[in-house]
Amino acid sequence: MAKRPLVMRTVSSLRRTLAPWRKRGQSIALVPTMGALHAGHLKLVSDAKRRADRVVVSIFVNPAQFAPHEDFGSYPRTFDADIKALGEAKVDLVWAPTATAMYPGGFATRIAPQGAALAGLEDKFRPHFFGGVATVVAKLFLQVQPDFAMFGQKDYQQFCVVTQMAKDLDLPVKVIGIPTVREKDGLALSSRNAYLSEAERRAAPELARVLKVSASRIKAGEPIEMVLEEGAVEIARAGFSLDYLEARHAVTLAPVASPKDGPIRLLVAARIGKTRLIDNMPV
Ligand code: PAF
Repeated sequence: MAKRPLVMRTVSSLRRTLAPWRKRGQSIALVPTMGALHAGHLKLVSDAKRRADRVVVSIFVNPAQFAPHEDFGSYPRTFDADIKALGEAKVDLVWAPTATAMYPGGFATRIAPQGAALAGLEDKFRPHFFGGVATVVAKLFLQVQPDFAMFGQKDYQQFCVVTQMAKDLDLPVKVIGIPTVREKDGLALSSRNAYLSEAERRAAPELARVLKVSASRIKAGEPIEMVLEEGAVEIARAGFSLDYLEARHAVTLAPVASPKDGPIRLLVAARIGKTRLIDNMPV
């Protein structure tokens, strides 16, 4: 039977456990999550295991990154199944702070990321989001003090924001982006896929299909604006309400007019029924 990983709930117990590892010179990789783990998270774990001597997975549904009307209350919470999967993946430690361990009474500090965090993509629809993410990720980095931190590129803007934040704040951690894990039909794995009805699930891979086709058309030299306009029509035809379909610089997320402007990333967000899905692909 797989060994249950250590589960820590307070910053002091976390530090006591990590100290001897660090003293022995063992490297530590952190995989930050909000739980509801799927194969995409387990890929981050397996890549973390290849890089570091010890792997810490954090599980914390961070209230600071949800607006009052968003799904904090109903966000899937599958703690026992998560611990079982992490035991099977031979994770060393799960950092699962209580809300008061993370945000004790009187907590009054919030990081306000700029740059990629104000690119007019997710931030436009979720103005609350990146401040909450940057604050909790900075705390996770300071609590665990990992050598490496693994982030899925499915949340591409988040990956850019966290990478820049670690650089700007001189946090001694290497942020590593891991390519998106997909279902056989192309749908990017996401904890929120659990919200999809059967009909919505059948329509959902259209986002990835449009990204793939658009990327190859842009690569072949077709005008970006026209390709994206046609992509938007196809996404709407599949039953989505589109928030954005954009071509951006892959590092700064600044708008690009042509492949000459730098490496391009296509990013999409769209709602189907009650579920909002995001995805992205390189050109
Ligand atoms: O991507 C997520 O699951 C969350 O935004 C993160 C990075 C764990 C911060 O709460």
